[in-house]
Amino acid sequence: MALYSFRDPGFRWSVIALAILTAGSVLVGFVLLPSVHGDFSARGLWDAICRAAGVPASWSAPKDGTAAPRETLVVLERSMTKVAPSDAVGRGGTLALNCTMCHGAQGMSASNAPNLAGQYPEVVIKQMHDYKSGRRSSTIMEALARALNDDQIRDIAAYYAYLPKARTAPTTYDENLPALVRVGDPLRNIAPCISCHGGVDQKIGTPWIEGMPKAYLVAQLRAFKSGERRNDAQAQMRNMVRGMTEQEIDEVATFYARKASTGENH
Ligand code: HEC
Ligand code: HEC
Repeated sequence: MALYSFRDPGFRWSVIALAILTAGSVLVGFVLLPSVHGDFSARGLWDAICRAAGVPASWSAPKDGTAAPRETLVVLERSMTKVAPSDAVGRGGTLALNCTMCHGAQGMSASNAPNLAGQYPEVVIKQMHDYKSGRRSSTIMEALARALNDDQIRDIAAYYAYLPKARTAPTTYDENLPALVRVGDPLRNIAPCISCHGGVDQKIGTPWIEGMPKAYLVAQLRAFKSGERRNDAQAQMRNMVRGMTEQEIDEVATFYARKASTGENH
């Protein structure tokens, strides 16, 4: 006599239950979860299966150069945050003459390019390397970054960090701040913006975003949300904006775009 028989109702039901459980978890893991995570579903079911199995991303990437930019290669180090000696600032200022057309003569953009005046040096270093390696995409910035070597990038970062900070100071805690900026939304795992971008706590590699053009801020938040921009280490920003609505993106962008002359830092 067989040890397990389909005629035994207990055994039959345990097999059926296992089949239902398996089908259910496949649906949740490969269909439901990817459908609510924008950047997870962006490359389809096969990609989701490869990720789940731990296959290196390069194996499944298209070979025709259309692959979405991937994770950053830059490892942030404390030494990048040090203010460089003045000769580096001088050399950086000369190199930055190529940048004024879009980023402004004093690092304050008159168009919708980001302001660079006063930006933390490690941020400029990291972003330039990400453009250079194609981890952050922008036709113009990738081409410009590729023309610069590591020393030149460091000098440019020193120059912009040194420029007079004609910008709204990083936001400190205040009861009147928009909720997402001040306390985030714990139920949706959104940390307060000021816990990383703030004047109280600035996490290494986190840009100074106050006074940036609103169109730039909205574009970056949307790019993180869709997964088109994915050079944020450990998906720090993608995890923040994933659950945000268009209206919330507009609200925080409006808040951060305020200018020193019109809006006070409360
Ligand atoms: C023709 C216009 C143009 C020129 C010239 C230009 N940039 Fe940019 N830069 C941009 C735009 C537009 C962006 C935003 C691109 C994006 O969406 O990623 C940008 C982004 C950046 C960023 C990222 C800033 C941030 O907050 O994330 C850095 C750093 C930067 N540029 C540095 C430079 C440097 C250094 C030069 C000169 C060597 C330069 N740029 C020249 C248009 C320009
Ligand atoms: C957990 C820390 C953290 C929190 C919380 C956070 N950010 Fe960020 N943010 C980052 C990091 C790190 C980067 C830089 C990513 C990279 O290396 O490209 C960034 C980049 C950005 C950028 C792109 C800036 C630029 O110049 O390219 C914007 C805009 C931004 N964050 C807005 C926000 C807003 C608005 C909030 C609140 C809703 C927020 N962030 C919350 C860590 C954080």
